[in-house]
Amino acid sequence: MAEKHFKYVILGGGVAAGYAAREFAKQGITKGELAIISKEAVAPYERPALSKGYLFPQGAARLPGFHTCVGSGGERLLPEWYEEKGIELILSTEIVKADLSSKSLTSAAGATFTYDILIIATGSSVIKLTDFGVQGADANNILYLREIDDADKLVAAIQAKKDGKAVIVGGGYIGLELSAVLRLNNLDVTMVYPEPWCMPRLFTAGIAAFYEGYYANKGVKIVKGTVAVGFDSDSNGDVTAVKLKDGRVLDADIVVVGVGGRPLTSLFKGQLAEEKGGIKTDAFFQTSVPGVYAVGDVATFPMKLYGDLRRVEHVDHSRKSAEQAVKAIKASEEGKSVEEYDYLPYFYSRSFDLAWQFYGDNVGDTVLFGDSDPASAKPKFGSYWIKDGKIFGAFLEGGSADENNAIAKVARVQPAVSDLNVLTQEGLQFAAKI
Ligand code: FDA
Ligand code: NAD
Repeated sequence: MAEKHFKYVILGGGVAAGYAAREFAKQGITKGELAIISKEAVAPYERPALSKGYLFPQGAARLPGFHTCVGSGGERLLPEWYEEKGIELILSTEIVKADLSSKSLTSAAGATFTYDILIIATGSSVIKLTDFGVQGADANNILYLREIDDADKLVAAIQAKKDGKAVIVGGGYIGLELSAVLRLNNLDVTMVYPEPWCMPRLFTAGIAAFYEGYYANKGVKIVKGTVAVGFDSDSNGDVTAVKLKDGRVLDADIVVVGVGGRPLTSLFKGQLAEEKGGIKTDAFFQTSVPGVYAVGDVATFPMKLYGDLRRVEHVDHSRKSAEQAVKAIKASEEGKSVEEYDYLPYFYSRSFDLAWQFYGDNVGDTVLFGDSDPASAKPKFGSYWIKDGKIFGAFLEGGSADENNAIAKVARVQPAVSDLNVLTQEGLQFAAKI
């Protein structure tokens, strides 16, 4: 099999790859220097669309509409753009072996790619119920969502099971976004999760109570404090029911599972330093192996603002880390340097008519402010997280662009607060003054 050499290889063709390619083009590259190797069959796209617009019953988003970098208001990089820039898109190609000492990657089909500089952007894979040996979890129509092929399977299942019953396993990001969009598709939706409230990684009980109430008003049923322990299927192998640990059995035509992700680092085990489940990098996303960078979901990087090392599984960081790595690579070629990455965590989600944003760190005490009545015509509310007398995190549902900018600023500036009752009263006004 042929061997191909590139000066720069980006391994993975997701969000970070698209933003890295754009930054390479901005900084200047020669045709043939850069390749993106992806197991997906399409050019980099904005993954968040898969759990939102892609599944809408009407006017659904489809490629080429959401290729990177439209998600942050940038240029949409179509396959022709890569061709014009001389960036090779090596698609439908899974790398199964990486040898960092010989700087080579081997594909499932046996092709070899060598590089001078490697950017690892392999993202995450989904955790499957079959990983824990849950009985019957390999039945048809038990679906996961990570890549566009998964989203197409979901679209086909929604068509095939019109107005049927869906059970969503998991109460995190996928759970909340998928239960909403399946409800919009007129499925009868039940969510199941083990915790006392949804999105426990981020939401306080007060925030979660709003979303659970709002979802209930939209007809989504919620079963908390238990997990799926088995599935029944019919003679075709199609799922028919979900068996819960508490003994209940839920009828199901479609099951969507969102029980978390795992960073895809296995190709590099033992070859570079790892930390907190990810690939350890410096503030320029260089790993412990010179010339090898890791960005996006797989990177565990120094979070300057909090003085620790973290991994972040969100799109804003995947874009910014990719740009930072490319800037650092290009600067070092000219004997220059760039500023250290100084990231302010930013997460968001959208479902039904709702949209929230969160900035900063969710540590310490919390206050809830505003109108968090799920029955309100236009609910708008938020929370602050306060540690050592300073605001570390800020959450806002239903904010305008200016209001969201204001809470971002609060999380970055970390203003002091002396009286939590006054802060609760002032709510968004407090942020507007910073
Ligand atoms: P990403 O997963 O985008 O790309 C990895 C790429 O590497 C894929 O193309 C994969 O096929 C490829 N790959 C992996 N191993 C390979 C191998 N061995 N050989 C070849 N190719 C390989 N975040 C947020 O902030 N707001 C949101 O609303 C959402 N919404 C959302 C919806 C859904 C359905 C998902 C799955 C995720 C989100 N996210 C999100 C998270 C966000 O999309 C995620 O953090 C970024 O996509 C991470 O970007 P990466 O480039 O690191 O991985
Ligand atoms: P998650 O970690 O957000 O949520 C997983 C949920 O499943 C948690 O509530 C967890 O306790 C629950 N759970 C665990 N085991 C369970 C079980 N056996 N039965 C029922 N529930 C169980 O992960 P996710 O929602 O699967 O998302 C996967 C990835 O996609 C993450 O990286 C996430 O950041 C990303 N994503 C992000 C967004 C966004 O930022 N808006 C949207 C979609 C996906």
